[in-house]
Amino acid sequence: MKRLLTLALVLCMVVGVASAEVTIAFSQIGQESDWRTANTDSVKKAIEAEGWNYVYDDAQQKQENQVKALRNFISQNVDYILFTGVVSTGWDEVLKEVNEAEIPLILLDRMPDNMDDIEYAAAFGGDFVEEGRRMAIWTKNYVEKLGRSDEELNVVILEGTTGADAATGRQNGIMEILKDTPNLKVIASQTGNFTRAEGQAVMESFLKAHDKIDVLLAHNDDMALGAIESIKAAGKVPGKDIIIVGCDSPKTAFDAIIAGEMNATIECTPLYGPFVVDALKRLMAGEDLGRELIHPEESCFDAEGGIVFTLDGKLSEKAADKIGERQY
Ligand code: AHR
Repeated sequence: MKRLLTLALVLCMVVGVASAEVTIAFSQIGQESDWRTANTDSVKKAIEAEGWNYVYDDAQQKQENQVKALRNFISQNVDYILFTGVVSTGWDEVLKEVNEAEIPLILLDRMPDNMDDIEYAAAFGGDFVEEGRRMAIWTKNYVEKLGRSDEELNVVILEGTTGADAATGRQNGIMEILKDTPNLKVIASQTGNFTRAEGQAVMESFLKAHDKIDVLLAHNDDMALGAIESIKAAGKVPGKDIIIVGCDSPKTAFDAIIAGEMNATIECTPLYGPFVVDALKRLMAGEDLGRELIHPEESCFDAEGGIVFTLDGKLSEKAADKIGERQY
């Protein structure tokens, strides 16, 4: 019995030392939105729960900070690097250095435009073009439900960070659908940098420049929530005078939908922690995960549910029914 206990203790110590010796480093963009905060927390919690060392760098939205962080990770000789790039371009040199250092790279959320030319061990991200399509499809169908399909409606768009695939993808998806929806006319489109404050400021300028705004499509919910403040300040009723559709689906957007101030949100999950840990365990076990970019399954939430939001006919869900399950 004593011998068994000693063996168990030694085993625990060996496993403990082995897991403590693994260092995972994450180069994150910053903390510009509710989504980003939830994403950072999810990854941190999942990694720390495994007992692995975790090194984190917040780049404060600056590409040069991310380049520095990646080079630091290389000189610290970390075991794995997790990386989300603030913009798509400009990573050729530093990601080549990561590859040369033979540190397995896991791409998260936003993809670099050179991903076909680099080595990476796994990739998880949103399908941004599809999310943009969904925003526009939901809006088109909602307008039809309101019996306003024959009315010319003016649309304004709050774009995400210029040069980020989350912004270009969503914009392309929106425009792909709107080009065949002549009653929804885009009259202004400008970046609000994925933040609440900039969403509010840009919406204020849209409202000053245009008397008639019927629809706001915001590349994320933080900008939509900021815009709601400007809409109220302009004496208009958000969600009624102006139809508001965002993307991400945090609890704050559900609250706004339930309060009738926002109309819909397309889901883009930030909860990558479990995916990352699963991928890391499989990589540690020597598995090759291939080069497929994995998109988590996503939905759409609005006040009543039942509105088609995909080209293949998926139906939206009622935010009030789902808010209790929301983890972010
Ligand atoms: O890249 C994902 C986007 O970045 C999220 O939609 C947004 O909220 C975040 O800041």
